[in-house]
Amino acid sequence: MAAGTFTLKWGILATGGIAKTFCKDLLIDPTTRNANDVRHKIVAAASSSSQARAQQFLTALGVNNAKAYGTYENLVKDDDVDIIYIATPHSHHYQNARLCLEAGKNVLIEKPITVNAQQAEILVQIAKEKGLFLMEAVWTRFFPLAKQIRELVASGKLGKVERVWADLSFWNDVEEEFGTGHRMVNLDLAGGALLDLGIYSLTWIFQILYHTLPPSQRSAPAIASTMSKYEATGCDEQTSILLSFPGGAQGVATTSIRVSHSSSSDVPPVRIQGTHGDIHVHAPIYRPTSYTLIPAQNEKRGKIASWEFKEVKEEVPGGGHGMFWEADECARCVRDGRVESEGMPWEETVSVMKVMDEVRRQGGLVYLGGLESLEYPLDV
Ligand SMILES: NC(=O)c1ccc[n+]([C@@H]2O[C@H](COP(=O)([O-])OP(=O)(O)OC[C@H]3O[C@@H](n4cnc5c(N)ncnc54)[C@H](OP(=O)(O)O)[C@@H]3O)[C@@H](O)[C@H]2O)c1
Repeated sequence: MAAGTFTLKWGILATGGIAKTFCKDLLIDPTTRNANDVRHKIVAAASSSSQARAQQFLTALGVNNAKAYGTYENLVKDDDVDIIYIATPHSHHYQNARLCLEAGKNVLIEKPITVNAQQAEILVQIAKEKGLFLMEAVWTRFFPLAKQIRELVASGKLGKVERVWADLSFWNDVEEEFGTGHRMVNLDLAGGALLDLGIYSLTWIFQILYHTLPPSQRSAPAIASTMSKYEATGCDEQTSILLSFPGGAQGVATTSIRVSHSSSSDVPPVRIQGTHGDIHVHAPIYRPTSYTLIPAQNEKRGKIASWEFKEVKEEVPGGGHGMFWEADECARCVRDGRVESEGMPWEETVSVMKVMDEVRRQGGLVYLGGLESLEYPLDV
């Protein structure tokens, strides 16, 4: 290990699908992605079901010498844990994150950070007061290609970006695959396309039309939306959002669990359209590994941009999924005493949540049973 390498010690809260994927990435040697300054260690995992399940989770990952807890409450008391990764369904994020923050732990929370913006604001307030690191795990933003695209936009290469289209949708036999109990459609687990998938469409629009501006110039968009509900549970199965940003730029964000986003390069799922040309980001947009730069042209004037058509591809190194880049960001922030990441700032997390709040208001989608409550502790 290089001298001066910082090791971040992780506690994993929940043992489901994404927890497993994230932990596999934590275990990949960071030098395979040229990260020589940070390392990760899983020191504990907790399951709300049983200690045995937590132990099985660690054993399946090949993690030895880590502690297995049968409650989340015990995990947050572990002095050896620097940061907790919360990987429960988003219905439970607010309660779980309060538990961690109140216990003085740094936190990385799966997306969406909470069910509504007010809950997110409270988490931010507590993190600020206690001087703890807190970040919504929007891993897409930490991909080298996402950074590259933001830099291209900020440099003015595309001219003025007028419009961003973004779609994240998956074809499913919804009744057969999800029924009424699956977290994707179960209102008790804050199910629905918007909070689970639509957040990625909004991520692309925000990281281009909002994040590339200096912080003082970032302003909330006006919002018009439409939502179709899944009859069996009442969650949203298809949602389309029009965003109008001050200065005239427009965003079109769509999401569905009935039909798929395009995987053809002819119809890219993200199109960033500037006066000098476009960037097409190819699927999967939550894990960007390729994009195309297309100079603007018209019949009278020919090619308008001074640059050429270009295709860019960059596979995820080390055989990983690509979640390790956000983990590296957490390590650097904790090491340097930074409580928030510039890549996913608190204010922007709350702004995206506010958009989703308004879209749910327009669509009449409310989560009951205390899921939207600000109270803590609450048994949701
Ligand atoms: N970043 C990404 O690419 C990505 C991908 C998928 C999902 N996600 C996000 O990650 C979160 C978890 O998704 P997932 O697919 O990992 O879900 P999952 O496979 O269902 O796992 C969720 C885990 O949460 C724990 N849990 C605690 N209370 C629960 C309850 N009442 N009902 C169900 N599970 C409960 C369980 O672990 P224990 O029994 O061990 O406590 C369960 O295994 C969601 O917020 C989702 O939006 C992110």
